[in-house]
Amino acid sequence: MIEFDEKKKIFHLKNSYFSYVLGIEDFGVLAHLYYGKPIDSYRGARKYPRIDRSFSPNFPDAENRLFSRDTLPQEFPNYGCGDFRESAIVIEHNDGSVVSDFRYKDYKIINGKPKIPGLPSTYTVEEAEAKTLKIILEDSFSLVQAHLYYSIYKDRSVLNRRVELINKNVAPISIKKLVSMSLDFVGKDFEMIQLNGAWARECVIERSKIFKGIHRLDSKRGTSSHQQNPFFALLGKNTDETQGEVYGFNLVYSGSHEMIIEKDQYNQIRVQQGIQSSQFNWILKENEKFSTPEVVMVYSSDGLGEMSRTFHHLYNERLVRGIYKEKVRPILFNNWEATYFDFNDDKIVLLAEQAKQLGIELFVLDDGWFGKRNNDRTSLGDWYVSQQKFPEGLCETAKRIRKLKMKFGIWFEPEMISEKSDLYRDHPEWVLHIPGRPLSKSRNQYVLDFSRKEVRENIWEQMCQLLDSTPVDYIKWDMNRHLTEVYSVGVSSIHQGEIHHRYVLGLYEFLEKLIARYPNILFESCSGGGGRFDPGMLFYMSQVWTSDNTDAISRLKIQYGTSLVYPISTMGSHVSAAPNHQTSRNTNLQIRENVAMSGNLGYELDLKKLTKEEKKFIEEENHFYIKYRKLIQYGEFYRLKNPFEGNIAAWMFVDKNRKNAVVFYFKILAEPSDPIDILYFDGLDENAEYEIEDIGRYSGSELMYAGLMLNPEVKEDYQSCRFILRKL
Ligand code: GLA
Repeated sequence: MIEFDEKKKIFHLKNSYFSYVLGIEDFGVLAHLYYGKPIDSYRGARKYPRIDRSFSPNFPDAENRLFSRDTLPQEFPNYGCGDFRESAIVIEHNDGSVVSDFRYKDYKIINGKPKIPGLPSTYTVEEAEAKTLKIILEDSFSLVQAHLYYSIYKDRSVLNRRVELINKNVAPISIKKLVSMSLDFVGKDFEMIQLNGAWARECVIERSKIFKGIHRLDSKRGTSSHQQNPFFALLGKNTDETQGEVYGFNLVYSGSHEMIIEKDQYNQIRVQQGIQSSQFNWILKENEKFSTPEVVMVYSSDGLGEMSRTFHHLYNERLVRGIYKEKVRPILFNNWEATYFDFNDDKIVLLAEQAKQLGIELFVLDDGWFGKRNNDRTSLGDWYVSQQKFPEGLCETAKRIRKLKMKFGIWFEPEMISEKSDLYRDHPEWVLHIPGRPLSKSRNQYVLDFSRKEVRENIWEQMCQLLDSTPVDYIKWDMNRHLTEVYSVGVSSIHQGEIHHRYVLGLYEFLEKLIARYPNILFESCSGGGGRFDPGMLFYMSQVWTSDNTDAISRLKIQYGTSLVYPISTMGSHVSAAPNHQTSRNTNLQIRENVAMSGNLGYELDLKKLTKEEKKFIEEENHFYIKYRKLIQYGEFYRLKNPFEGNIAAWMFVDKNRKNAVVFYFKILAEPSDPIDILYFDGLDENAEYEIEDIGRYSGSELMYAGLMLNPEVKEDYQSCRFILRKL
């Protein structure tokens, strides 16, 4: 998987999916040579031409006018010595200077994939699955070393990159920017895709040209954010779902982050991804190390669909942990849109009884069970059970629900605090705030300073007290505002630039401890829906509440966009009431079911408002889902029709042996005189015969290449249907 040509000074990382080549150039500058389709053995065809470019400084050899870093494709570009593009690093030395010049010193090849201390990452189960190249660079003036890690999996089109910085100098440095990955492409006329959005409108796929200059896609919100998922892709102009080159990049991190796409004066493209640099200033003392989060890089020569399936497999198999890894997820009922804050023990048990009758397996008690929480103005931080709502204690309610042979789950928002709470009264200094400066509220709440041990310990004890006394099978971990006035009174002024990242490290430390202590609990991460849908959280929590928007039509786009990177097994999706609480749209129950069961199916609506027929329908739908959920949650996922492009969406799930498949088809608005629509299936065995339930027998090749013609005469809005395929 990793070869080093001593003579030519070239490293070649390769498997059957891709090659990645880097070389040690003149003066020990680490150059990027190639990333793409696998090549057998690299002999040096990509030697970057020596050109005398005006206004490109010649460093370190002033006499050699043919060599400049300003144009050279590199792996770890420096700041301040001749490359005027974005640098991979900015450090301030003790003398106030900010120049660095990292050059090759040594390398090491490691079996497997080392863990990153304190940070989530993809992993190996067997050491032989991956190899890691560690390249040691040094700035010989400051004695600071940068260790670049490249891990390649044997059987996946995945390369992981990250950096570790070590200060070997007695004098401290401050790190102002350190990307996890910097990569240069020459001669590629790429477009780019990003996943931007907003609350209740997550993962909007935006494809655009790459203009000269710098595109900076980022979050400064303290979380990975609804607004900009930590993912981007570069792709050829003709690349689509099924063909063409794509390079996907996803940062395994849950805090503020940045992605840089820079097209330079010679149309070369530099991309970078890492922690948000504008909020970052990390002091590194003698012999201290700093590790960046990792970037997962996926290469596909077969379009976006193949890229997504590579991400899905990797995340299901080598990111998610715990007992729910690759295990089917239960159908849940969540009381939020059914009751909001207005409930008590009997109302909850009644809902659970009704849910049970519909075939629902897990009851989730959402916000409002603790302190005096009857609205969103109070009690975050007071994680003890509301006496008023549960006079006999929550344990009793949980037991009553479990007696129904249902699992019981509960909501927490541990990183937050209300001004009206016992915790705030006792510890106002525990919120992120700047003494003497007014403090922003958002959803009436403040953010607890999770960078501080004593704060985490208090919340830990409160949570353990509840979890040790109540049978809990599931936790929804929520986070309902972004970080402002980021400052910790727990550390001195010079360390304030570390707090954004220390907050995330504190959160990760807490989550690691929590999942270790409660290994049987199913965790669902949430931040007002998909505000923290990132691989960092997936390392601790095996599913995410995809969006607060439960409207089936909005969800077509949200789930389609989310599926670009994240597996179906991780996407929580619920059937809710009509008219919908976010959009007021009135959709039929069938489409709400079909959209919600294209992920981890759940329900959140007032069950007593359902008619007898609706209840019967839901029960049947749940039977259907239970029969096919393994295929849906873990099958190969193919996007067939893109709702961002028109009135129709379709996708399908195929099992590993291509024996069974389920296809979902949605027509959003009824239109008179619509053209014929042809549905081309995907992922089938072209030589096999398939039976489509209630329709007929066709060969795989016929379904994929000729396609099924669909009658366009739809009489009502929001129509949907399913096709069930079985190989004969
Ligand atoms: C957030 C979540 C919702 C719900 C509420 C409760 O908005 O995304 O699902 O849990 O909080 O306050």
